[in-house]
Amino acid sequence: YGDASQKIDYVFKVVLIGDSAVGKSQILSRFARNEFSLDSKATIGVEFQTRTLVIQHKSVKAQIWDTAGQERYRAVTSAYYRGAVGAMLVYDITRRQSFDHIPRWLDELRSHADKNIVIILIGNKTDLENQRAVPTEDAKEFAQKEGLFFLETSALDATNVESAFLTVLTEIF
Ligand code: GTP
Ligand code: MG
Repeated sequence: YGDASQKIDYVFKVVLIGDSAVGKSQILSRFARNEFSLDSKATIGVEFQTRTLVIQHKSVKAQIWDTAGQERYRAVTSAYYRGAVGAMLVYDITRRQSFDHIPRWLDELRSHADKNIVIILIGNKTDLENQRAVPTEDAKEFAQKEGLFFLETSALDATNVESAFLTVLTEIF
């Protein structure tokens, strides 16, 4: 999977959703710019970043949309999901509540997005293993039941961030 700068064969819109502070913006920053910040501010409205990759000899521009987990800062829901072909549903492995809210995020996603959207469940912050509050098995079971891909990541040390995006982009492809 190299980086391409020439012609674009496909543009894929992927949306990030999940509670505030689970690490959505830092996952995106790690993927798009290979950067991470510990004092990341809560997102207000919508932001997006792109990265172009080569998948199966085609150049694919991933356009990743990021919005606020906090209700009061969120963007217009229908516009956010419009045209999305992939979604990353993120929780924080150290905060049980962020995992318990996943079914709600999934409902919102399923009621607004295209029915063929590719969805991956992501348990972020695996670098904080000693503070883990969500067993991997619980999430794996949930993902299986709901037909979602599943990976645990760390935006901080970059574990699985690339794999998570490639899982979604390759499946869309
Ligand atoms: P909203 O924009 O409010 O929805 O939050 P968000 O989901 O975008 O969270 P954000 O990326 O801003 O990260 C929240 C906090 O968690 C920040 O202090 C990040 O530095 C931290 N963080 C994000 N990812 C990780 C990670 O993998 N490990 C650790 N230890 N901290 C992380
Ligand atoms: Mg954010």
